[in-house]
Amino acid sequence: MVKRLATYAALLLTVSMSGLIGAPAWAAGSPWGADYFPNVPLVNQDGKKVMFYDDLLKDKKVMIDFIFSLCDQGCPLDTANMVRVQKLLGSRVGTDIFMYSITLDPENDTPEKLKEYAKQYGAGPGWQFLTGTRADIDAIRDKLGQRSSKEEHANAVQVADMATGRWIRIPLATDPRYIVTEIQNALYPGWSVGKKLASFAHAPKPNVFGPGQVMFANRCAACHTFGKGDMLGPDLMGLTERRELNWIASYLTSPNEMRARKDPIALKLAKTHKVLMPNLNLTKKEVAEMMGYLVAKSVAPAKGEAAKQPLLTADASGAAKSGAMDHDHAQHDHSKHDHAQHGHAQHDQARQDHAQQHDHAQHDHAQHDHGSAQK
Ligand code: HEC
Repeated sequence: MVKRLATYAALLLTVSMSGLIGAPAWAAGSPWGADYFPNVPLVNQDGKKVMFYDDLLKDKKVMIDFIFSLCDQGCPLDTANMVRVQKLLGSRVGTDIFMYSITLDPENDTPEKLKEYAKQYGAGPGWQFLTGTRADIDAIRDKLGQRSSKEEHANAVQVADMATGRWIRIPLATDPRYIVTEIQNALYPGWSVGKKLASFAHAPKPNVFGPGQVMFANRCAACHTFGKGDMLGPDLMGLTERRELNWIASYLTSPNEMRARKDPIALKLAKTHKVLMPNLNLTKKEVAEMMGYLVAKSVAPAKGEAAKQPLLTADASGAAKSGAMDHDHAQHDHSKHDHAQHGHAQHDQARQDHAQQHDHAQHDHAQHDHGSAQK
């Protein structure tokens, strides 16, 4: 709920900021230059001092977000998605467009801690993690229209072309290909990689698994795969075989609470991964939808047959649907074994059918670098 409010606040701020920006500001050069932004000193993750306007903004294309290393809610997903955006933008980052993550917790986030944070997430070159004094960081935030507390800060990236004064704000808890499309439309109008999407509304959204699937793409895929290996978080293939369903549901609801409660599995997981599973503030309904998707997707293919050949049958999409609708089942029936048995074959077909559709969808609007973004 709090989170929702923060999102609306962010939207309102965007509106008020574009009001500030006025009509076609970029037509006549930028009014947001040296006079508008404070040229305050910041220190990056390598301990290098930089001036906010002169060194980071002036004449550049930039992406700015706010994070802090102890954040266990929005920032982990934001940063994980920024990593995927960085990979999609490829060599432009650091040459033509520059990424900045500014800490909201300068008292704790020393350059060393930010360096460690960047490393944990796998941030590449061309992306600076910045700290400074609280007063200077607040001055920057103020000019970027950000006034909420650090716990409720907007999970968004602000993207600008300083040469034209064009600023946009893009939510970060979403598919990185959408984020890149928005950047492309705003900053590189002539730049087209592959087939250009008219808008996100037209993006193919294979939805055979119901709402859990879309949520997974937007909010989980930055850190998890099914069967494609560990990313920041563990591979979720086999999840429903190794965990009780009610454990998973509680964990999705509040992993930080489970750690605080010293749940042994949550603690063990936390020890073996570089970053922590964030609290994504999922509602009860979202958790139920996510459970339906996890149950359908995480069952490992049976040895032999299914592993070899994708089975495409006429009723595969029907099977997929029944998988997606299983969330009631997931909630009420804690006997995972039962479930695994009777749902098995269907889920296999569903998954494979889905995998094919999904690949296809991705190639269509693939920014050039889909493969590496998943690694
Ligand atoms: C910023 C990265 C990140 C995001 C985003 C994220 N997770 Fe995780 N997840 C992790 C990490 C890391 C772990 C391992 C536990 C830890 O270190 O706290 C984990 C653990 C898990 C586990 C337990 C796995 C096991 O083997 O028991 C489940 C289930 C899970 N995540 C599901 C999800 C779902 C569903 C979403 C989206 C709604 C999601 N995660 C979003 C990073 C993430």
